[in-house]
Amino acid sequence: MHLRCFTRLGIASIATLVAPSLSATPLTDGLEAFKEGRFDEASTLWARGASLGDVDAELQLGVMLGAGKHLPRDVPRARALLAAAVQQGNVDAMVALALLDYRPDVGQREEGLALLKSAAARSSRKAPPLLTLAGTVDLATLGFSGPASEQEALLPVRFSKPFSANPADVSAGRDTVNRTCVACHGTGVMGAPRSGHPEQWKERLSLGLDTLAERSAKGYKACPPRGGDYLLTDDQVRAAVYVMTEGGARR
Ligand code: HEC
Repeated sequence: MHLRCFTRLGIASIATLVAPSLSATPLTDGLEAFKEGRFDEASTLWARGASLGDVDAELQLGVMLGAGKHLPRDVPRARALLAAAVQQGNVDAMVALALLDYRPDVGQREEGLALLKSAAARSSRKAPPLLTLAGTVDLATLGFSGPASEQEALLPVRFSKPFSANPADVSAGRDTVNRTCVACHGTGVMGAPRSGHPEQWKERLSLGLDTLAERSAKGYKACPPRGGDYLLTDDQVRAAVYVMTEGGARR
């Protein structure tokens, strides 16, 4: 009798563990709100999750408050939230806290470097590329690439219309490349194919522009989802890929 009770409890708690990506939770509701630009609502939902000890909600809200793009920046609160998530052993929070420390107005690069190293030692996928980059580019210029990008990678990629290389899209794509992708695709760090070198893209282009765009939206090997800027739309990512590959598969 007792045993059966325990078994049932066990199944129930496993169900809640795997449920978050399938059913509504403060985390996923917050993510939807965020994607749709309802930032206050997202932050309220994540604050609720964080107060319940949800490590992902701590992470999302910490990143959002640290970035200060959509809410007034609150570095002490961002650090407290991220530190709480680090305490629960979350390696993404280590990386997010490191990137916060790297920002010029926070200026704690030594601490940031130490955090990146511990994250790498705990097999974070993000830390090694960032450690490589730390020697060559200013990490602060990479923007605040947060865990939301990884959460978002789980959402389906939706292109709003078939791609047409109209001048407005191409010009927006060029801006994205120069702001975000060039950090790696400019010099070719970690084997990134270089922007403006079509011969380095030839083989990959046989997959077609849409497949490459989908991969860059979701992240591919050392290429972070959306180049680390999780606010880029699927269409913007595709335009950037078009520009980087010098015209997509058709050329
Ligand atoms: C932190 C470095 C970094 C940034 C920033 C970055 N990339 Fe990448 N990207 C890479 C690396 C490294 C590869 C090569 C991955 C491999 O094949 O091992 C790559 C590969 C790719 C590929 C080829 C994928 C495939 O299927 O072969 C595309 C497309 C791409 N990146 C698009 C982008 C776009 C668009 C941006 C900007 C929005 C961007 N990347 C920003 C590092 C980066």
